[in-house]
Amino acid sequence: MKVLAILYVGGKAAEEESRLLGTVENSLGIKDWLESQGHTLVVTDDKEGASSVFQKELKDTDILISTPFHPAYLTADLLSKEKSPNLKLCVTAGVGSDHVDLNECNKRKITVAEVSGSNVVSVAEHVIMTILLLVRNFIPAHEQTVRGNWNVAEVARNAFDLEGKVCGVIGAGRIGYRVLQRLVPFNCKELLYYDYTPIPDQYANEFKHRRVDDFNEFLSQCDVISVNCPLHEKTRNLINKDTLKHFKKGAWLVNTARGAICNAEDVRDALESGQLAGYGGDVWNVQPAPKDHPWRTMTNPLGGGNGMVPHMSGTTLDAQKRYADGTKLIIEQFLAGKPIDKQNLIVADGQYATLAYGQRKDNK
Ligand code: NAI
Repeated sequence: MKVLAILYVGGKAAEEESRLLGTVENSLGIKDWLESQGHTLVVTDDKEGASSVFQKELKDTDILISTPFHPAYLTADLLSKEKSPNLKLCVTAGVGSDHVDLNECNKRKITVAEVSGSNVVSVAEHVIMTILLLVRNFIPAHEQTVRGNWNVAEVARNAFDLEGKVCGVIGAGRIGYRVLQRLVPFNCKELLYYDYTPIPDQYANEFKHRRVDDFNEFLSQCDVISVNCPLHEKTRNLINKDTLKHFKKGAWLVNTARGAICNAEDVRDALESGQLAGYGGDVWNVQPAPKDHPWRTMTNPLGGGNGMVPHMSGTTLDAQKRYADGTKLIIEQFLAGKPIDKQNLIVADGQYATLAYGQRKDNK
């Protein structure tokens, strides 16, 4: 079989650090294993346009591996029988398969799997870090020291405690739940969540939290909001100029889910007007983000409030090991004709195998 992997180039860093498994250079550590079994592995980062290696090689690919960090956008057009006639399995090396047209995969009965749980702790830790650095006004304070200045009042005027604040997550699945769990020791006033799926019973009694059914009511109650739901039809553009009006003035918003859940210009406007005190995260509506993307340089009226980094929260070296191993397991199961672990299936046999990508009649 032919396996095509779209990864990012790691360059010098990947040459020096073999644990950067998600790079073209280190190819998830599966090259020798696949080739020893007579399969072909093509690895590239070249993913845009009709003349890209991705689109050319797709024509006779059986298994596509892609990652959310450098997404190969597998559109309905590329999923046509003419452009990907042999495609049987798409594996996301990581979590989040929104860069693949899932409805089209259902139509063609192409299986989509991801390595569920592989980086959920990594992301939850990043969320807590980002909440703290925004609420405490850390980045402007650090930048001040680098510039050689010393002006406590300038940075303390916009620094607060997390204790006593109301914190909420949109999507309380594997990551969202872990974010709430990690907030417990900070003695927040309340921990809230908005999700059509309740937190499973086995975790629900671990700590005090409250589910809010109405979205705008949820937004209006929170001082800090973390977005942790997948990107799908119902969450694309969920945070926009209309929903931002329901936020508490001066709230902090963290998004490590997907960039396109938040409207880029509306978030910038809300931050610049002070409606949001801070916005941070690692996901962008286009990746790599263009140099002039508003989220690179936007600030609140006091010049802080920007906690953006490249898409990195779910790709610590620990996470890379877990999603590389998980990718291998999925392909191993597929090649051996065994069932793929249910928790890793997103779409299979022409149906959604999970509730996470929206409430649908045909959810299994
Ligand atoms: P999960 O499947 O365990 O949980 C997702 C939750 O979101 C589910 O409880 C689902 O019911 C809920 N949800 C779906 N639509 C919703 C809506 N309209 N409103 C409220 N809740 C909704 O997924 P997990 O592991 O927690 O990951 C969540 C997302 O985080 C991924 O889909 C991915 O987009 C993103 N992610 C980002 C990473 C990064 O490096 N920045 C790494 C891993 C995941």
